[in-house]
Amino acid sequence: MSSKQDQPSSFSIHEASDVGWDIHTPVNETVDAQGNPFPDKVFFGVPDPRAPMRRVYDDADVEKLREHLKQHNGIRGLDICEPDEFDRIARIFHRDGFVVVRNLLDAEQLDSFRAGCVQRLQQILSIEGEGKRKYVTESYRLPHRYSLGTSSASRELLHDPIWASMVDLPTTTPILEKLFGSSDYRVRGAGGDLCLPGAVEYQHLHSDVEDEQVIPAGRIEQAVALGVDVKLDQHGEPDLLSKRLIMEMTPGYITINFLMSDLSWENGPIRQIPGTHITRQLPPTPEEEPEWMRLSTLVGAKAGDGVIRDLRTWHGATPNLSRCIRAMPNVEYVSPWVSAALSRQTMPDEIWRGLTSHGKKMCRLVKAEPGVWPAGAGEMHPIASRRKALKLQSKQAPEQTK
Ligand SMILES: [Fe+2]
Repeated sequence: MSSKQDQPSSFSIHEASDVGWDIHTPVNETVDAQGNPFPDKVFFGVPDPRAPMRRVYDDADVEKLREHLKQHNGIRGLDICEPDEFDRIARIFHRDGFVVVRNLLDAEQLDSFRAGCVQRLQQILSIEGEGKRKYVTESYRLPHRYSLGTSSASRELLHDPIWASMVDLPTTTPILEKLFGSSDYRVRGAGGDLCLPGAVEYQHLHSDVEDEQVIPAGRIEQAVALGVDVKLDQHGEPDLLSKRLIMEMTPGYITINFLMSDLSWENGPIRQIPGTHITRQLPPTPEEEPEWMRLSTLVGAKAGDGVIRDLRTWHGATPNLSRCIRAMPNVEYVSPWVSAALSRQTMPDEIWRGLTSHGKKMCRLVKAEPGVWPAGAGEMHPIASRRKALKLQSKQAPEQTK
């Protein structure tokens, strides 16, 4: 239907468009670091054995999946909080490993983030696909799905003023202080993900980080601040029950994904499996994943809302069978007890200087030195080897970020 000549140069990030649904991109095809299709190791491009055979909007298998999702998709009775319901937000977050909060963004912030997502996606989609393919698939991911973080050669978007403007919001900062138990948490990075219409495959269930199950003193302090009654054993260490509670209540990383559109049964709502932030077991493979988990999605969350996620919680992307892109830019935060040595300096000094005083405090460890442009910041490419080359070349702000 579409050819490279009629790819849209501008599009909406939340309304119907001609983006996506590329019949020439095979279902379950991923590419390696050089862009070669169907590599031996697939990493995040794990195939979905139940996906429709063709990436076509009105294909019979797609219609069948659409009908099924229309009937069943979404967590029944999904809890959705108002931004000032701090106790309820905290209770649900620590219980389930995620929580949906209404209206974290006002209309102006939502417009700004939407514009930022369009700019970044235009960079990605402007790169010509192999053969007849409309787009380049991101290395080691399923087709039509892009990470705004890993597509950036610096792995973050903190150099982008729009993303930087979202690290300290009147709605989110009090919630984060409640969840972390203090104001000493830090920003780790910013990015997010999006899927194009026609991303017909389910992404496999996964955790974004592994809890190493270590309890440094700072983690105990955080748990105490959150109300955990830490009892000591005969060696002066927290007893087993206390250790479990400390680890449950103190994730190393919390992300806020901001929703650019309402999540519907059809447009690839994120799926979250409640309570899995505290399990050491691996999530089921795509072959063994039960249907209830595939349907455990956040249908009902709306544009401007946020999904606050403990990064340990099992989650995955789901099919986008609509005509609209589904985008979720994010900001990632880190607990005070996590080693500062893991910080990457991806925020230019001039961006950092424009932050609020709390923003400056949160971003002090991800700030580059004055006059130093973070390597790769502003360069986007879905292919890992090309990103690496761009990062090595880049010493100053690319034209499109100025
Ligand atoms: Fe993930």
